[in-house]
Amino acid sequence: MFRNLPSAAFTEAALVDLAKTMFQGEFAEKIKDHEPVDVALNEREPEDENPAIPAGFTYFGQFLDHDITFDPASSLDRFNDPNALQDFRTPRLDLDSVYGSGPADQPFLYDDDELHMLLGTDKDFDKARNKRPDLPRNNASIRRALLGDKRNDENLIVSQLHTTFLRFHNKVVDTLGTRDFELCQQTVRWHYQWIVLHDFLPRIIGQETYERVIVGRGEKPVIRFYNPQGRYAFIPVEFSVAAYRYGHTMVRPSYSLNRIVTKARPDEQPFNGKMAKFNRIPIFSLTDVAQEPLANLNGFRELPDFWSIDWAFFFDGVAPDGAPPPGAILPQPSYKLDTLLVDPLTSLPDHQREPIKIRRALAALNLLRGWRLGLPSGQAVARHMEMEALSDEQLFDSEDADRKEARGKLLIDHPGIFNGNAPLWFYILREAEIAGNSQHLGPVGGTIIAEVIAGLIREDRHSFLAQWPKWRPTLPSAVAGHFTMADLINFTNG
Ligand code: HEM
Repeated sequence: MFRNLPSAAFTEAALVDLAKTMFQGEFAEKIKDHEPVDVALNEREPEDENPAIPAGFTYFGQFLDHDITFDPASSLDRFNDPNALQDFRTPRLDLDSVYGSGPADQPFLYDDDELHMLLGTDKDFDKARNKRPDLPRNNASIRRALLGDKRNDENLIVSQLHTTFLRFHNKVVDTLGTRDFELCQQTVRWHYQWIVLHDFLPRIIGQETYERVIVGRGEKPVIRFYNPQGRYAFIPVEFSVAAYRYGHTMVRPSYSLNRIVTKARPDEQPFNGKMAKFNRIPIFSLTDVAQEPLANLNGFRELPDFWSIDWAFFFDGVAPDGAPPPGAILPQPSYKLDTLLVDPLTSLPDHQREPIKIRRALAALNLLRGWRLGLPSGQAVARHMEMEALSDEQLFDSEDADRKEARGKLLIDHPGIFNGNAPLWFYILREAEIAGNSQHLGPVGGTIIAEVIAGLIREDRHSFLAQWPKWRPTLPSAVAGHFTMADLINFTNG
């Protein structure tokens, strides 16, 4: 996206030390004191929670990322060349993660009528009333999901979001009452693109950047820096390796799923070599789900019975599946958009079976990959965008005394490395703390994301922006002519 800007230089040791200042320290203390590491469903956590964005949008963001990026050989050990990073699928918001390459090429994703998507086993917690299936899976000993992108089975929240899209498609087929698959697919895609542009984006990038880039209903987005220049639309590395990894900071340590399944079983479980007590179900832990299937939300396995998600626990405006537990604070908020990742993200399950410690610590992975791919510094990007760059004092300061000390020490331990030279991902997160009050991204991060997403939709000749810019959503919604994630879920469940 900014090919003329020089790559920012760092050392591996400096980036690994910076990553160490990006994790929540209290976790270890709570484990030591035998206190729960998270709060219960009826408690707030103002230090960490972002009341402005419900937790479901974290995983909607991940789902969208998987729709547009696909790097089948993600490995730090591979030669990292930004120009060689190929997207093996279409970098469009076309839900190819859901549709694969369609009923003719991938019939195993579809029903015999070649119209409806196949669903998996019903896992509902209320058999009498609802129907909430798992992803369709094969019968091998590890029940692999049958879907267009295996990453959508990576955790049990994104996998159920995927299933919701399968059900949404089926509901559209039944509602339109047509045998025209492409018409149904277009209806699904255009409503999804609308949600991305007008429900998801303003929440993540903030109203000011949204109004500056998207303008009105998005017919003519103001795109100054993302320029596919007559080539096929592409995903810039500044987006995939820095700005769009903002989502890693929104991840909560743990979640409740529905009015019955609020806690992990066992609630005390091994975590980083000790026993940790959880009030909700940890997003990840190293407990093997083959032994303890109810311990965590690790993916790549069959959804346990009764673990179907009630989306009222994750999105605002969704009709709940029955009365929630007394005092429950719903939807669960996401975590702040800040320079902090929760502790479970230091201990990712190592699906690549490579026991390299660093591979499991997400902040280090992100910083190292950004460096190896030659990203420019945050300051260089800000200046290129004609914005005032944050100073070192602002960037390496923190409202938290311990973190302030650790970040100050970084500048001393690695002299000259970070002066006027912050890794783009870190810069964008610190900017969110300062300019967005940790509730949304600031101008540099927000502009990269808004321009790339609006640009991808505009460049896709099948999108509503290209085909019919004045199109408005047609499916039932709370506000006529608008369509939100809550509308999609209420319509699908209705
Ligand atoms: C459930 C929590 C999540 C985990 C455990 C996770 C883990 C990972 C890992 C291991 C990588 C590869 C890192 C590398 O080798 O460079 C990655 C990449 C990425 N993640 Fe996440 N992630 C999570 C959630 C999210 C969310 C919520 C978003 C955005 C909203 C996101 C955006 C990205 C992006 C854009 C990439 C780069 C993809 C590419 O270059 O193709 N992730 N994530």
